[in-house]
Amino acid sequence: MGLLELRELSKEYKRGGRAFNAVDHASLSVEPGDFISIIGRSGSGKSTLLNMSAGLLRPTQGTVFFGGKDIYQLNDKEISWFRNEKIGYVPQGQSLLSNFTVLENVCIPWFLFKREGDAEGRAFLLLEKVGISHLAASYPKELSGGEMRRAAIARALINEPGLLIADEPTSDLDVETTADIMTLFGAIAREGTFNRTNNQTAVLIVTHELDTLSYGNKTYTMDSGALRAA
Ligand SMILES: Nc1ncnc2c1ncn2[C@@H]1O[C@H](COP(=O)(O)OP(=O)(O)OP(=O)(O)O)[C@@H](O)[C@H]1O
Ligand SMILES: [Mg+2]
Repeated sequence: MGLLELRELSKEYKRGGRAFNAVDHASLSVEPGDFISIIGRSGSGKSTLLNMSAGLLRPTQGTVFFGGKDIYQLNDKEISWFRNEKIGYVPQGQSLLSNFTVLENVCIPWFLFKREGDAEGRAFLLLEKVGISHLAASYPKELSGGEMRRAAIARALINEPGLLIADEPTSDLDVETTADIMTLFGAIAREGTFNRTNNQTAVLIVTHELDTLSYGNKTYTMDSGALRAA
């Protein structure tokens, strides 16, 4: 069994009195070292699939295994604990907290996890890796979109997750910044999250930009909730 294993996952929503599957019997296996891209049109179910994979949204049907464990068998508190420890999540759009500096934002998941040790030192190292350590003391409103995205990526890596999930991490970024971020994800998949042990990490992203696909090792398409290998 893979690190992350989605089995026949569905999410039903109702709109205008009519039920539909935003995600429809999706199955996927993610191994350490994988860099998987899912491409699909707006509304095809990509964010819904990622949210279920990250322990943020309970599926209507199907199972999410992480490290062999069926995560939705856990209670909500256990799920958030698990997510904070094992999964780095870069949400779609701007997600930094505006009243905290960049460095403090990056540290937040560490303190939620009640870890001991040098959070700020690791946060600063990660800001160096994503190329914005000079902005550590700045506030989110003083950053460009690409800089905020880099800070959100550093924040997702602070707890050394086994899986990094990113929802359209390069939408609205220029070609060069996109290439930088995709190269960084490739390095994370191969070499881990810049921790001492340097274990491999899996990376799972969704995108609707075709030119980002070449960075990954596997591509899937999402179409009206159906996930297929491309
Ligand atoms: N809470 C909800 N209630 C009802 N319908 C929803 C809900 N959340 C999402 N949907 C619908 O489910 C479908 C899939 O949404 P989702 O956000 O997963 O798409 P997406 O592929 O991520 O799109 P985008 O590329 O625009 O981010 C859409 O039709 C959306 O309107
Ligand atoms: Mg989306």
